[in-house]
Amino acid sequence: MNNTFRHRFTQFISIALIAISTSFAAQAQSMEKDDSIYQGLGKTEGITKIVNDFVPLILADTRINTFFSKMKKDEFSALLVAQFCELAGGPCQYKGKDMYEAHQGMSISNAHFNALAEDLQIAMEMNQVPSSIANKLVAKLAPMQRPIVSK
Ligand code: HEM
Repeated sequence: MNNTFRHRFTQFISIALIAISTSFAAQAQSMEKDDSIYQGLGKTEGITKIVNDFVPLILADTRINTFFSKMKKDEFSALLVAQFCELAGGPCQYKGKDMYEAHQGMSISNAHFNALAEDLQIAMEMNQVPSSIANKLVAKLAPMQRPIVSK
């Protein structure tokens, strides 16, 4: 290898490495999770407060509370916190049942679903969640209507 060739070759390799690492960096950035809903809800602490207001609202709501007569409040609350946190783009992992399995055979109607969604909206209002953020969380829950509703 003469010197000019070696120089050109080294130059080519350096440029190629820079190009590859730049494209990796750009890709890593674009793959970063959007956690704006999680932040807007006040992170795990805020979500926990919302759920702690949401569950009593469900239990007081005569449109749906009969469904929850045997519910284990603490376990259910912890599952909801993890589920909302994960849906909102936060650093949590929901490990409960999938929504079809969890609600199978309960004969839940669209009216029941909407009542529960309304209680969640109220719980978010009670915690001063901006409506833009609240609407985004509800939008994330919307695809669950199909597997949950069976009547
Ligand atoms: C977007 C709407 C809903 C979400 C995100 C949701 C979420 C959940 C979750 C995470 C669980 C726990 C699953 C597990 O045990 O692994 C659950 C259970 C349950 N859900 Fe829902 N749910 C929704 C709608 C509803 C509606 C509309 C009703 C009835 C009106 C309902 C009634 C129940 C009941 C009775 C249980 C069992 C509670 C227990 O025994 O601990 N859910 N739901």
